[in-house]
Amino acid sequence: MNFSTVNKKNVRGIPLPVIAFIILLFVQCTPKHQVASSSQTGTIAGHPDKGLKDYYKNYFPIGVAVSMASLHGPDSALIIKEFNSITPENDMKMGLIHPSESIYHWANADKIVDFAASHHIKIRGHNLCWHNQEAAWMFKGPNGEPVTKELLLKRLKDHIFAVAGRYKGKIYAWDVVNEAVDDSNDTTQVYRKSNWYNICNGPDFIAAAFRYAHEADPQAKLYYNDYNSEHPVKREKIYKLLKKLIEDRVPIDGVGMQAHWKLNDPSPDELRKALDEVTSLGLKVQFTELDITVRLPQSTPSPGTTPQGAGQGYTPELEARQIAQYKMVFDIFRQYKKFITNVTFWNVSDRYSWLDGRGGGLMGGAAAGSNTSRQIIKAYPLLFDENRQRKNAYWSVVNF
Ligand code: XIL
Repeated sequence: MNFSTVNKKNVRGIPLPVIAFIILLFVQCTPKHQVASSSQTGTIAGHPDKGLKDYYKNYFPIGVAVSMASLHGPDSALIIKEFNSITPENDMKMGLIHPSESIYHWANADKIVDFAASHHIKIRGHNLCWHNQEAAWMFKGPNGEPVTKELLLKRLKDHIFAVAGRYKGKIYAWDVVNEAVDDSNDTTQVYRKSNWYNICNGPDFIAAAFRYAHEADPQAKLYYNDYNSEHPVKREKIYKLLKKLIEDRVPIDGVGMQAHWKLNDPSPDELRKALDEVTSLGLKVQFTELDITVRLPQSTPSPGTTPQGAGQGYTPELEARQIAQYKMVFDIFRQYKKFITNVTFWNVSDRYSWLDGRGGGLMGGAAAGSNTSRQIIKAYPLLFDENRQRKNAYWSVVNF
């Protein structure tokens, strides 16, 4: 085309206002967010409204536990829209990332860290020392004999230096020690009798883990993480542990309350008491693994049978109770905002929750352990439904 022949007001004889109108019409009819497929969009496409993280921007980051599948599948758009913190659900646990002395599996953890960095999402590290999903080799010598306390602590140190060191400056908070407190009602038994405890002949590994983590990444915030931390007996045991760590000048910033909760658990009083107690020690709090199961407590099922009262589905009555419980706990979170530095959900939507695989539903948290039956009885514990749509419970936590 000879540009000198183009009339300023017309292109090929079509007046400019008409061209402008055609362009406008085209723009109007095109979806705002074109995403690969409709299942990938969920609630996202065409709704440029706020996500959870935006509603809570004056309070605390809102996080979610993620797996590789959730980052590459249809969950990823939802994660980016709703959350500004992520926790690897499994990929940084000792047994997975460090399965034998000289082998580290970094690939998944690295990808999660890269995903977060590329979307300006904060990362919580989970976790550096736990009695579950542990690296069994750590506890054994070359002939299968139990290791000495000294060797175990040396291995723990090497592990923490390798993992916290690799992600130094990228992970802003670590669950350093997970679930080291005993579950029984025996108030004299403060610590869980784990391999760590037994080989160290006491709780020294806890303080050691915090010291190693602080040395490996001095900027990272360090948390002790546990479940049922609102139940009075366990609450007091956790308090004893924390008080001792502080007296011993162990570098600890706060407490992770896992928050694997139920429709009536915790009560508002229990939640406030737990917060008051921990914050009275000068510690911060993160709710690290929030979910509220709708499954009702029931008696232990015999193997292979469906427990009575289980799998009722997500009935209107259960939904109403879940909405009330979510509203209550978030009302309290906001009241304590100066102490709370993160609230993280454990899994993205009701399509998949780690609780779904746990029959019985008697116990919260990791206590719903490996010896419970494996029927799929859904727990519907999150704020997004099986189609990744916002549930009514979602609106009960953002309308305030
Ligand atoms: C769970 C994961 O969600 C599951 O995929 C895995 O099979 C077992 O562990 N407390 C914790 C988390 O600290 O690490 C647990 O995560 C849930 C209980």
